[in-house]
Amino acid sequence: MIEIYGLNKIYDNRVEALKKITAKISKKRTAIIGRNGAGKTTLIRILSTQLMPTSGYALINGLNILKDEEEIRKKVSCIPQEARPVGLLTPYEHILIYLTARGYSFKNASEEARKALKEVNLWENRNTPADELSGGMKRKLFVAMALASNAELVFLDEPTTGLDPLSRLEVWTAIKGLGSDLVLTTHYMEEAQSLADELIFMENGTIIKQGTAEEVLSEFKGKVRIESRKPVDNWKKAGGLYIKYVDSEEAHEYVKMGYDVKQITLEDLFFKYGVEIES
Ligand SMILES: Nc1ncnc2c1ncn2[C@@H]1O[C@H](COP(=O)(O)OP(=O)(O)O)[C@@H](O)[C@H]1O
Ligand SMILES: [Mg+2]
Repeated sequence: MIEIYGLNKIYDNRVEALKKITAKISKKRTAIIGRNGAGKTTLIRILSTQLMPTSGYALINGLNILKDEEEIRKKVSCIPQEARPVGLLTPYEHILIYLTARGYSFKNASEEARKALKEVNLWENRNTPADELSGGMKRKLFVAMALASNAELVFLDEPTTGLDPLSRLEVWTAIKGLGSDLVLTTHYMEEAQSLADELIFMENGTIIKQGTAEEVLSEFKGKVRIESRKPVDNWKKAGGLYIKYVDSEEAHEYVKMGYDVKQITLEDLFFKYGVEIES
């Protein structure tokens, strides 16, 4: 359980990356979704005690990020967005080093490393230098590290960004094998839906929506999205298009006028609540 109270972060360059966020995260698996710059990494780094907030605080299973960092770090494993393996070290060595740094004895670390490598399907490559692993295998290695740590709570920051679709599926399978509570960030809607029970939509340093996929889409029930490439008065500009939501029974009227009609997806939350960024 994560409780977030008025969390605010202003970087030295005056960018306000988090705007007084208050939220509760109580589901087993939560995905934070948002485009680049939304504040996902900032939030995860603060919650895993790697970064101090400017104001506000959060409780991780009752422990305060401002006072109990040491306790929290024992219970939490965080795989950063920019995590890269050390080229000459093997997957087995990576996990061994990670676990001994977390206080495991060599014997226990070795046992956990073996289990995790089998679990994420990296066993055959356990002794391959990381340099020679594919992008997907490298990401799986980090999932294996989180898995082996037996942390209560695992943060994965964009675990599949930049991977091809097949490798992404493999990493998903590895992530599904994690027994810990999980908070992951992503900008892929399918990833969020496939891996998480609860979705948190972030935009511009704020949470615009939180809930299960069904809950967050309930306001769009029975509706469709009408799209126009040309500006239309009073329609919302979103994703380079002009859009409007109407009851599905009205859709045929708009088809007659030459507009495109689209089914509702999770993206519609950003279309409806998002801020249009001019490019
Ligand atoms: N170390 C930093 N110093 C200054 N600004 C930063 C720093 N890290 C992130 N930012 C800014 O804070 C905002 C949120 O960034 P970030 O948390 O990385 O978002 P996301 O992970 O959703 O892409 C962005 O505008 C980004 O440029
Ligand atoms: Mg990020």
